[in-house]
Amino acid sequence: LLNQQQHKFYEVEEAVKRKLNIEHCRIVPGDADKDASVYQFLGQVVHLILDKHLPEGDNVVAVTGGSTLSKVAESFTPELSDGRSITFVPSRGGLGSSINIQSNSVGSLMAQQTDSKYIPLFIPENLGKETSEILLKDPMIKEVIDMSKSANCLLLSIGTANVMAERREITDEQQEIIENGHAVGEAFGIFFDSYGETVLRYPRIGLKFKDLSNIPLLLTIVGGSSKAKAVEAFFQKAPSHGWLICDEGLANMVLNGE
Ligand code: F6P
Repeated sequence: LLNQQQHKFYEVEEAVKRKLNIEHCRIVPGDADKDASVYQFLGQVVHLILDKHLPEGDNVVAVTGGSTLSKVAESFTPELSDGRSITFVPSRGGLGSSINIQSNSVGSLMAQQTDSKYIPLFIPENLGKETSEILLKDPMIKEVIDMSKSANCLLLSIGTANVMAERREITDEQQEIIENGHAVGEAFGIFFDSYGETVLRYPRIGLKFKDLSNIPLLLTIVGGSSKAKAVEAFFQKAPSHGWLICDEGLANMVLNGE
């Protein structure tokens, strides 16, 4: 099915690449906002791309959290580790959000599905600067952070500002900053406006936005037309060498606002 669809979406993919200034785009049929089976297609395409582009030998794949990646993980199979070794690492601390969508759980599920290794990062989401600095001195924590920063692949997802503000336990003051700053999206603990400018940065340990340009294989995986504005905003500042893997609903909304 995906091969048949590939031809159908070729022109839309090209248009999305031009509009968002990204090197690669793959689109799957449907709209995740209306049909959850879209995640299975997203997962299959991500699997295909990883299988084609992850080199033989040792690989470190960093992952963010969220329901998208947790569903995408379900389509992964042990074939992905044929001829290569993969270690999944969470890209940031993440205890705090609901257990099955933390980056720790996403990484662990991907490792189970693909018969690979997985290294957890057990630190809370919201930390003050001082606590972060102390934790970063711990050799085990430092090792995982360094691994995720030198990962050769990152799987990341993007959320809308309002959904993410609700999901994260934010203070009234932070809520006000998000609203007054007209934040439309969130990724990596950063809430950003439609120009991709940071409105609020959530203090967390781990991979940072500026590290993205050093990661050779960068896959942004997003489903649902409701995330179009967040995705457009994200790519205003994101490096252009990566992939966007999204659904038809999101792509059409990006291109035509419908
Ligand atoms: O909380 C981790 C995270 O990757 C966020 O940075 C992102 O906005 C969100 O998850 C996406 O979540 P979902 O896939 O559930 O929309």
